[in-house]
Amino acid sequence: MVNNFKYLGFSEPMALAMVEALKVNPYPNPRVGALLIDEQGNVKAAANHKQKGSNHAEINIFEQVQVEETDILYVTLEPCFHSDTSPSCATEIINQGVKNIVIGDIDLDIRTNGRSVSLLKDNNISVQIESNANNILNPYYENTHKKLKDIHYLLKIGMSKNDYITNDASDSRYITNEISLSIVHYLRATADCIVIGKNTLLNDDPKLNVRIPGINNIDHNPEPIIMWGGSTENIESAMKKYPTFTFLSSMPSRENNTYCDTSSLSDVEEYFLERKFRNIFIEGGKGILGSFLRDHKIDSIYEFKSNLNIENGIHIGHNYRAEIDKNYHMNNKYQLLDNLLTTYTRN
Ligand SMILES: NC(=O)c1ccc[n+]([C@@H]2O[C@H](COP(=O)([O-])OP(=O)(O)OC[C@H]3O[C@@H](n4cnc5c(N)ncnc54)[C@H](OP(=O)(O)O)[C@@H]3O)[C@@H](O)[C@H]2O)c1
Repeated sequence: MVNNFKYLGFSEPMALAMVEALKVNPYPNPRVGALLIDEQGNVKAAANHKQKGSNHAEINIFEQVQVEETDILYVTLEPCFHSDTSPSCATEIINQGVKNIVIGDIDLDIRTNGRSVSLLKDNNISVQIESNANNILNPYYENTHKKLKDIHYLLKIGMSKNDYITNDASDSRYITNEISLSIVHYLRATADCIVIGKNTLLNDDPKLNVRIPGINNIDHNPEPIIMWGGSTENIESAMKKYPTFTFLSSMPSRENNTYCDTSSLSDVEEYFLERKFRNIFIEGGKGILGSFLRDHKIDSIYEFKSNLNIENGIHIGHNYRAEIDKNYHMNNKYQLLDNLLTTYTRN
């Protein structure tokens, strides 16, 4: 199975555990996936945490198979230390005889926050940590535990080497390569909703769903949200053409669309929070991303760049770079064949 999480620096088994995590949405708990592999690297069991109150991913592994000393357990998030709401996974890991564990991220929940790692090490278990898995799978959870805010906005942007986001000379609406597109789909799978503007809907005819090759049992698709604005033109036909999309429009008299003054992003945020949307995926176009950047809403940016220049189309605009230079810092750069992914976080 193709799994392009490896391009973001994750080992193959962790990448598989991350895909397990993406198959469900156990909100308000974080998505967590786990994988047990044997000495030869064969997968013995894969599991996730399905919903609040149900088994954690590690326990679902132990219910499937017996652990051998040479096995390695991969978990996307540090096992829980506490036993107030469910049995402590760290204690269960020790009891089950696990000798090697690889963890995708430290759990910032103050009841755990590194304590399970210490406990496992104290019990002679080899512990390795691959950073950032939870940050990708559950950014709002990281925000909450860093006491930032209970919502996270991720901006994805695809552009040419010279910063164009559309190409008038091409019939394809894609600017970036297949690896970039597949990573966009992983990121979409972590989102509660995907937000685009009216023009992007009308120009691109997008599906706004999660399409990951080799994985067909994702039972949670993010909700497509169209920020339409106040115009009545074309809205009826657009709503007919895309009956499963949510149209945010400030036309109160219309049927089926959701009333929301999209010129006020605090009203839009209120709508997201009412719907319990916490991982917000902003896909553009230029008008929409410009508004969210200007209002200081965007927490992280995933910028996918091709190695080609575009002559005619929409340029992202110089305010975009100025905004990044002023309010963001670069986290990572990943070479995705001939594309470059740069990630930024708000200061
Ligand atoms: N390369 C990429 O990553 C990428 C991603 C997405 C889109 N695109 C491209 O971007 C192009 C469209 O960009 P665009 O700038 O023309 O349009 P857009 O951002 O898709 O939509 C802008 C329109 O959305 C409405 N809107 C509602 N609330 C808004 C708000 N708070 N702020 C701004 N607009 C709001 C406005 O309609 P009213 O004026 O009627 O109020 C506005 O004209 C498409 O051709 C698409 O291919 C590229």
